Amino acid sequence: MIITVDGPAASGKGTLARRLAKHYGLPHLDTGLLYRGVGYLMIRENHSLDDPAAAARVADALDPSKLDQKALRTDAAGEAASRVAAIPGVRAALLKLQQDFARQPGGAVLDGRDTGTVIAPDADVKLFVTASPEERARRRHRELVARGEAAGYDEVLADIKKRDERDSERSIAPLKPAPDAVLLDTTHLDIEAAFRAAIEIVEAPRAGRTRP
Ligand code: C5P
Repeated sequence: MIITVDGPAASGKGTLARRLAKHYGLPHLDTGLLYRGVGYLMIRENHSLDDPAAAARVADALDPSKLDQKALRTDAAGEAASRVAAIPGVRAALLKLQQDFARQPGGAVLDGRDTGTVIAPDADVKLFVTASPEERARRRHRELVARGEAAGYDEVLADIKKRDERDSERSIAPLKPAPDAVLLDTTHLDIEAAFRAAIEIVEAPRAGRTRP
């Protein structure tokens, strides 16, 4: 079974995808980490984030097993990721790796922005997870404060809105639900409730029910 979980920054899609993968015993790929890896290496190697040739080279040479999750979780890496993610050569370089992951025997769970539209259009279940920008900013702000990073709520909200706009309006693989994706709005749901709703969505076709 292939499950895709797409949605905007801080919507809760990563947590849901990890929980679903664990629940169904499937491998999980956080595709955002790949773009974060490219953005992070571009900065570390002193390339301009607007240099498409350098970005495509970095993406081509990316070794996912060497990604340092901690360094990639920062807002700076997220911002750099969203810039390099708009470069067609970067997306092309990362495509096969993601498709191979999705097509492994037994299936997989992938989360990102285009996993249900571009990477695995034939997925068995597609979730599109959303939450209001204000709620997403509150979650991200709480996370940053817990990590001891200084950040104001207004600044986090502005960053989230900027990232939404860039991810939704780019011409290649923009953030949008696949026509057959089920929308899950987590604005008023905590993690447990969101997880239960996600399981319902995955189980609905198996139980012969129409999806909520
Ligand atoms: O999900 P995460 O915040 O880690 O993603 C970082 C950035 O990587 C996103 O803002 C988006 O621009 C890009 N991305 C993408 N396609 C994906 C996953 C992430 O363009 N499948």
